[in-house]
Amino acid sequence: MDSISIRGGARLNGQIPISGAKNAALPLMALSLLTPRELFLENLPSLADTRFMGELLATLGVEVAYGVNGGGPSSVRLQAPKLVSTFAPYDLVRKMRASFYVLGPLLARAGEAKVSLPGGCAIGTRPVDLHLMALEKLGASIELEDGYVLAAAPSGGLTGAEIEFPFVTVGATVTALMTATLAHGHTTLLNAAREPEVTDVADCLNAMGAKISGIGTSTLEIEGVAALKGATHRVLPDRIETGTYAMAVAIAGGEVDLLGARGDLIESVIDVLLEAGVEISETNEGLRIARNGHRASAANVTTEPFPGFPTDLQAQFMAFMATAEGESTIKETIFENRFMHVPELSRLGADIIVEGQSARVKGVPKLKGAPVMATDLRASVSLVLAGLAAEGETMVNRVYHLDRGFERIEEKLGACGADITRVSS
Ligand code: EPZ
Repeated sequence: MDSISIRGGARLNGQIPISGAKNAALPLMALSLLTPRELFLENLPSLADTRFMGELLATLGVEVAYGVNGGGPSSVRLQAPKLVSTFAPYDLVRKMRASFYVLGPLLARAGEAKVSLPGGCAIGTRPVDLHLMALEKLGASIELEDGYVLAAAPSGGLTGAEIEFPFVTVGATVTALMTATLAHGHTTLLNAAREPEVTDVADCLNAMGAKISGIGTSTLEIEGVAALKGATHRVLPDRIETGTYAMAVAIAGGEVDLLGARGDLIESVIDVLLEAGVEISETNEGLRIARNGHRASAANVTTEPFPGFPTDLQAQFMAFMATAEGESTIKETIFENRFMHVPELSRLGADIIVEGQSARVKGVPKLKGAPVMATDLRASVSLVLAGLAAEGETMVNRVYHLDRGFERIEEKLGACGADITRVSS
C-alpha cells in the first residue's frame, strides 16, 4: 500500500489547477442510467472513485469510454442503450457509498432495483432512510431483505409527490431529484440541499430535458417528463479541493494561484480564512491565496449545510488551526464521528481537546513530523497539510483514501515547492 512522505518547512509558490468536483461527478455519472442516449461529461476528475463508478455502471449496461470524441483525458462518454441489470451487489456498494446513487435512476427507468445497503463508515452511521422515504413518497414499494433494498415501481409508474426532508441531506435530495424527473406529474422537494453539487446535477438533468425549477434554493419543483435525452455537461470545479489547497497555503505560507477555482462556491471558507489572516483575491483565472510573514490567528468554525462551512473541510481547517496563534473552537454538526484525525494530529504535536461535537485547538508554534494514518479521505488530507508545516518527515500511510478524492495531490503540491513524494511498497 502506498504512503506519502512530506518534509515540512517549504513555502508554496506557483499554480495549482483545480479538478472537477468528485461529489458532483459521481451522481452525474449515475444520470447515464436514466436515458438510452449519450451523456458526455467534461472536466471529470481522474480518481479511484470515478473509475469505480464507471465499473459499477458498466455492470448495469452503461458503455463507458474515457477521453473520446476529442474530449481529452478528463472526459467520459456514458451511454446505456439498454439496462442489462438492476442489481448492485454488496461487494461493489460497500467500497463506495456513492454507489447507492444508482438506486433511484434504476427504479425510474427499469421500474425495479436491488441495491445493497451501504452500511456505516468511518465518519458515522450514515443511514439511507431519507433516500428510501423519498422513493416511497414517489410510489415505490421498498423492502429490506438480507442487507439489500428491493425497490419496485407500481405498474403505472412512479408519481410525483411533495417530499419534505426533516433536515438537509445531499444524498437523499439527489436521489429524489434524479428519480422524480421521470415520475408522472409534479414533485416538490422541501428543505432540499442547496450544495453546489446538487445544483450541478439539476443543471445537467435540465440539459437532458428534465423540468426542474428552483435550482439553488431549498425548494425544488420538478415536472416529470416521459423520457430524457442526451447532453454534454461540464463538471463544476471542486470546492473542497479548492478549500484544501487554500488551507495548504495558509499552513505552509507562500502564494499560490488556484486555477479554475470559484470563490462563490466557498464564500464561508474565504470569510474564515480572511479572519485568520490569509490573503485571498480573485484573479481572471481563479483565486490567489497568500500568507506571508506573519503567523495566522485562530478563528472558530461550525460545520453547516451549504452555504455554511463544509464538513468536508473541517479536518483540513483543524490542521491549519493547530499552528495558528490562539485558541480555536471547531464544531462538527453534520456527522457524529468526524474527529478521527484528532489523535493523528496530536501525534504531530497538535494540542486538541475534543468535547462532544466540538474540538478546542490551541495553536502551537511548530508541529513535528511522525508516521500517521487516517481512516477517511478528508482526514488523510488534513495530515498531509499538517505535514507541510511540521519539522522533519511526516509519513502518511494508507493513501488509498487520498486517491479516492484528490487528483495527483503530490504532483500538485510538489509543483509549488512542497517536498512530497509517494512511496510505493
Ligand atoms: C455527501 O454525503 C458527500 N458525499 C459527503 O462527502 C459530505 O460530507 C456530505 O454530503 C455533507 O456535505 C458525496 O457527495 C458522495 P448527507 P451524503 O446525506 O450525501 C444524515 C467526502 O469526503 N442522513 O448530506 O451521504 C447523515 O448521516 C464525503 O467526499 C440520514 O440520517 O451526506 C448525515 O448525518 C464524506 N439519513 C446528514 O444526514 C439519510 O437517508 C447529512 O448527510 C441520509 C443522510
